[in-house]
Amino acid sequence: MKYLVVGGSGYIGSHMVKHLLRAGHEVVVADTAAADPGIEWVELDIANAHALDTLFGDCHFDAVFHFASFIQVGESVSDPGKYYQNNVAATLTLLNAMVRAGIRHLIFSSTAAVYGDPQYVPIDEQHPKAPINPYGRSKWMVEQILQDFDRAYGLKSVCLRYFNAAGADPDGLLGECHEPETHLIPLILQAAAGRREAITVFGHDYDTPDGSCIRDYVHVADLASAHELAVEYLSKGGTTTAFNLGNGLGFSVQQVIDTARDVTGRQINVVEAARRDGDPARLVADATRARLVLGWQPRFDSLEQIVRHAWEWELQYPWR
Ligand code: UFG
Repeated sequence: MKYLVVGGSGYIGSHMVKHLLRAGHEVVVADTAAADPGIEWVELDIANAHALDTLFGDCHFDAVFHFASFIQVGESVSDPGKYYQNNVAATLTLLNAMVRAGIRHLIFSSTAAVYGDPQYVPIDEQHPKAPINPYGRSKWMVEQILQDFDRAYGLKSVCLRYFNAAGADPDGLLGECHEPETHLIPLILQAAAGRREAITVFGHDYDTPDGSCIRDYVHVADLASAHELAVEYLSKGGTTTAFNLGNGLGFSVQQVIDTARDVTGRQINVVEAARRDGDPARLVADATRARLVLGWQPRFDSLEQIVRHAWEWELQYPWR
């Protein structure tokens, strides 16, 4: 198969590209940032309809994987225009170009943020969608647009609602590197590596056993395998749908820090701070549907493995 990976230079997208290439597929990355050497890369912003038409005129793609979005919840609150422009409007430009080119299959990166404050955990796909910030709303808007595009134009899609994507390529070739970094595990490991004074724990008075927030960490390599299964599902005639991706295991911020101390053998200083706005106490996935319908079987379902791979990446790139 020949696939276009939009946002294929980013954290999850680059793991996806490696996974698809290893499975023997042809891959083109479309991204504003360069892909790794040896990967076919088109410098392209999906807000540019003309550039998309040119690309789709030159190459036939069996499906598109769409990873290109802004992901910081706090920034989405202070600058919603940026989020709706990129995450919704530019995505719409991509979808219209796909329809013009007759590309029928899309795998879309969605998020647990579409659910908002959970009414129950673990969260299944039927849980009410009530996002509490522009980031989550932007993803939910696209999910609804995709349902309309299926009805009107026959564009079939799978939305994959990630819980907390984490870890790094088990071969040590890729890892997580956001600028600025806001995610818990890389920040903890930067503290372990001595490149950060301490990790700040946002909130220690939640209604959880140790008072810190509970999240469902899912390995980035397992996310990649779920995407491949999702595109196979569409190629076999699967209908437009959404799946949660998580391990169904909740770990508190404190448990992640303790695991990182064990894995790294390093001291990790902790500073307690107030709650961060918009953080629910507990987000845990019920990903039964992905296992049953797609046959998804995460390989790295222990927090220790996730942190170990992230640490191996961190150690390999001390210059970052
Ligand atoms: N946390 C800290 N200190 C930090 C950073 C994070 O205590 O320095 C805590 C957060 O409060 C949260 C947990 O660690 O309880 C995980 O935080 P992350 O920022 O790593 O991840 P989030 O759960 O906030 O965000 C994830 C995705 C987002 C997505 C969101 C949906 O990374 O892209 O889930 O709920 F929007």
